Amino acid sequence: MAISICFAILLLMSRISYAYECNYTSIISFGNSLADTGNIKNLVAIHHSEPPHFLFPPYGETFFHKPTGRCSNGRLIIDFIAEGLGLPLIPPYVGDKSNLRKKEVRQGVNYAVAGATALSSSFHEARGVSNPTTNASLQVQLKWFKQFICPTSSGTLIAHNDCSLPDSIYTNFSPVDCQHLLQHSLILMGEIGGNDYNHELRAGKPINEVKSFVPLVIKTIIAAVNEVIKLGAKTIIVPGNFPIGCSSSYLAMYNNSDTKMYDNKTGCIIWLNKFAEYHNQLLQRELEKIRKFNYHHVNIIYADYYNAAMQLYRSPKEFGFLNGALKACCGAGGPYNFNETVECGAASSTTCADPDTYVSWDGVHLTEAAYRLIYRSLFKGSYTMPRFNSLCRS
Ligand SMILES: *[C@@H]1O[C@H](CO)[C@@H](O)[C@H](O)[C@H]1NC(C)=O
Ligand SMILES: *[C@@H]1O[C@H](CO)[C@@H](O)[C@H](O)[C@H]1NC(C)=O
Ligand SMILES: *[C@@H]1O[C@H](CO)[C@@H](O)[C@H](O)[C@H]1NC(C)=O
Ligand SMILES: *[C@@H]1O[C@H](CO)[C@@H](O)[C@H](O)[C@H]1NC(C)=O
Ligand SMILES: *[C@@H]1O[C@H](CO)[C@@H](O)[C@H](O)[C@H]1NC(C)=O
Repeated sequence: MAISICFAILLLMSRISYAYECNYTSIISFGNSLADTGNIKNLVAIHHSEPPHFLFPPYGETFFHKPTGRCSNGRLIIDFIAEGLGLPLIPPYVGDKSNLRKKEVRQGVNYAVAGATALSSSFHEARGVSNPTTNASLQVQLKWFKQFICPTSSGTLIAHNDCSLPDSIYTNFSPVDCQHLLQHSLILMGEIGGNDYNHELRAGKPINEVKSFVPLVIKTIIAAVNEVIKLGAKTIIVPGNFPIGCSSSYLAMYNNSDTKMYDNKTGCIIWLNKFAEYHNQLLQRELEKIRKFNYHHVNIIYADYYNAAMQLYRSPKEFGFLNGALKACCGAGGPYNFNETVECGAASSTTCADPDTYVSWDGVHLTEAAYRLIYRSLFKGSYTMPRFNSLCRS
């Protein structure tokens, strides 16, 4: 009897704690160009290096009316997440910290860098593949995070009942401060890993070689998830890879008259999509392991970018993409309006009149309209496991 009352109280407490944890006061993000809100832009300025094509117009034209470093015409999935939680758009970590107000930092910091890989640059360099954009791989981003937020954290969990954030949180965070911040943060761990494959495939590496290090990529992502959990994170969203076989850049790169290579419903390249699914299956399997055996009070959420996007490739017209899903809005011609020697933003590239009618923005990244629909499928719909909107009843 006493035991069952105790259980009932425990159950009640865990329900309350879950509801509380859904009140996210901050977003902390790691990843690549799918989530970069300005890190690469600021890195380029600091290092006086050659600005990549996505720092030029027409990037940003639809929403920000200028390039911000985001690889799209407007907002990214992470921007829609921030808006959905009532938070400001997440500022980039790299750059002048004095520009970041204390309040802003408490509402989130973005460590994602366009071009970033999950595995270290040295791993790829040893295979003869160098990263043209950045060496800020996932481990580098985590190091930035720990230096900025948790400089002295030992990783030990300290019980604490007062969950309000202390005022001194901007500098010299103690492990307890760090835990406070993390407990109330939505951690976006990715998408990351896609570039490990992109850079290698573009360098001409055969798919079987690339496939051989998928488990290592997954292991690296899982290690990062475990690390933020040890620091106190309670909700981690881990996105999988997109259906890269539908990407205009790959369609142009592997353009072929062999119709068997293409999915006859979508026009996407079958073997590349199978490869993305392989990555996603391994990732989900490992997430399930850490969910089951390690952390009962942590929400580890898989974000199914693949199938959320696949809806748009299967029936683009239904979603308002009247110009289809495979041809890029911004590019320099060819069957998919993608030419890797003349990328979007180059002087001789052209931009479509209505980006909202295209899924693909520049052949690699999607339009704001596509990202908005994918965001809705994930956070308001059924494409997160467990469902994000089942955690937070509001
Ligand atoms: C969410 O957290 C903030 C800051 O801790 C607090 O002011 C607010 O009342 C909370 N909202 C809900 C619905 O719990
Ligand atoms: C990455 O690191 C290598 C080796 O240190 C360096 O040569 C290269 O310039 C770096 N690349 C970028 C984009 O920073
Ligand atoms: C793509 O393939 C088609 C069919 O084989 C061919 O007609 C076309 O010229 C190719 N385009 C490019 C840009 O390679
Ligand atoms: C499309 O592909 C499927 C499976 O590969 C095949 O069964 C079907 O006959 C194809 N349909 C057309 C119209 O080619
Ligand atoms: C890409 O653009 C270059 C430069 O304009 C041109 O020479 C080349 O033919 C184009 N490639 C394709 C596949 O259209």
